[in-house]
Amino acid sequence: MHQSSIKILHLDSNHPILMQQLQDTGFTNHEDFTSAKKDIETKIHDYQGIVIRSRFKIDKDFLDKAVNLKFIARVGAGLESIDTDYASRKGIALIAAPEGNRNAVGEHTLAMLLSLFNKLNKADREIRSGHWNREANRGHELDGKTVGVIGYGNMGKSFAKKLRGFDVKVLCYDILEGVGDANAKQVSLEALQQNADVLSLHIPWTPQTDKMVDTDFINTFTKPFWLLNTSRGKNAVTADLVSALRSGKILGAGLDVLEYEKSSFEHLFEDHNVPEAFQYLLDAENVLLSPHIAGWTFESHQELAKVIADKIKALYFGESQIENDIGRVTGIGGIFFKSKDPKALVAWYGKHLGLKTDAYGSSFWWKDAQGNDCMTQWSPFKDDTTYFEPSEQSFMQNFRVDHLDLLLEALKASGVTVVGEVQRFDYGDFGWILDPEGNKIELWEPKDSAFQ
Ligand SMILES: NC(=O)c1ccc[n+]([C@@H]2O[C@H](COP(=O)([O-])OP(=O)(O)OC[C@H]3O[C@@H](n4cnc5c(N)ncnc54)[C@H](O)[C@@H]3O)[C@@H](O)[C@H]2O)c1
Repeated sequence: MHQSSIKILHLDSNHPILMQQLQDTGFTNHEDFTSAKKDIETKIHDYQGIVIRSRFKIDKDFLDKAVNLKFIARVGAGLESIDTDYASRKGIALIAAPEGNRNAVGEHTLAMLLSLFNKLNKADREIRSGHWNREANRGHELDGKTVGVIGYGNMGKSFAKKLRGFDVKVLCYDILEGVGDANAKQVSLEALQQNADVLSLHIPWTPQTDKMVDTDFINTFTKPFWLLNTSRGKNAVTADLVSALRSGKILGAGLDVLEYEKSSFEHLFEDHNVPEAFQYLLDAENVLLSPHIAGWTFESHQELAKVIADKIKALYFGESQIENDIGRVTGIGGIFFKSKDPKALVAWYGKHLGLKTDAYGSSFWWKDAQGNDCMTQWSPFKDDTTYFEPSEQSFMQNFRVDHLDLLLEALKASGVTVVGEVQRFDYGDFGWILDPEGNKIELWEPKDSAFQ
């Protein structure tokens, strides 16, 4: 099928880069940001794809009318406004873009936490009304506290990463095993509830997480704690949260999402009756509210659009077509060379050139463009090593890459010799190629955090 015959209906406005990229690739794009759902239903049979943010629910009825639909792309993280089971049964691909707004959510969650701890909103309000209250605005410090993250996926991991510079212990609980990493130790829910001073929710809204934070759940915490919710409003029972704020079991709350939001996230209430619990939140000095904007930044606006465009292109043409976006080498990973006596050489470099060496050589730490700690290795190998084979040279270069598998696929496709199979370790994935002179090059997709 030629891509111009693939018609995509855009139901919300997004960053122009999305439309631009899809147009450049040759898809036919139509926009309809205003028609009622029932009117869209009369023409949806004509489209292979839809791009939506949160305008309306994509339910069974809608999907039954979308007889030619091949994909639904949601320009956001969660897919709960789509009947995903039914769509999958119909073979419709579901695309979301949590990679596009996870950094925004991580930063916003941290901003809420620091603002609550330092009473910034309260102090700011007071000064504006002419009050200079220092003692009443004495803050708390994060140093030494334990932060519990429930749901350790895109958003939870991003928040934990932002906490790296603080002296806090970060625990995470998730229904999936083995998701903990260098930034958060995975523990049982009980252990999290026994230790946490701060709880941050990063779970999807599912039947299991609906109303998860209720009175029983709150009271199971050993200590009074601070609550942050950037997930979905319905993950917490607001009335129970308010009781806990009144009793002091919850010390303060940062809420980017509210139980009362409409599912489009664009409005608060259907009518103008303010529930009592919400009125309490509005009056409480230790509550910070934001209108579902944790993932809503200028940067994420563009990043979400880019991720969605890439995923739609990948769906039709495979990853190799987005080769330009995978990047090639991102840095030097290491210099490996043969030596008659590696031990003596390492000692010499340590003594005379001040290299901080261990049994493997010396590690140089630096920061990448995102500020992540990265490592480059200098290592002598025993001269009878077979590691550089089939190269006959006495050295091997190692380069850092971002997407090893995709890059190897692209290199193979363009005729480069790939040596052996990819090997995966907890400190990264490794693959090998030969340059035209037969020099072996190791490609490393690193997990630098494994070394710290
Ligand atoms: N406020 C905002 O602007 C904003 C922006 C983006 C995402 N979100 C919300 O953040 C939440 C997380 O999004 P994500 O992209 O990180 O999702 P994700 O799927 O990457 O991660 C969610 C994690 O929660 C875990 N989980 C599911 N059910 C659980 C349960 N019952 N108990 C413990 N863990 C459970 C999953 O295993 C997964 O690891 C979603 O609700 C999403 O809608 C909000």
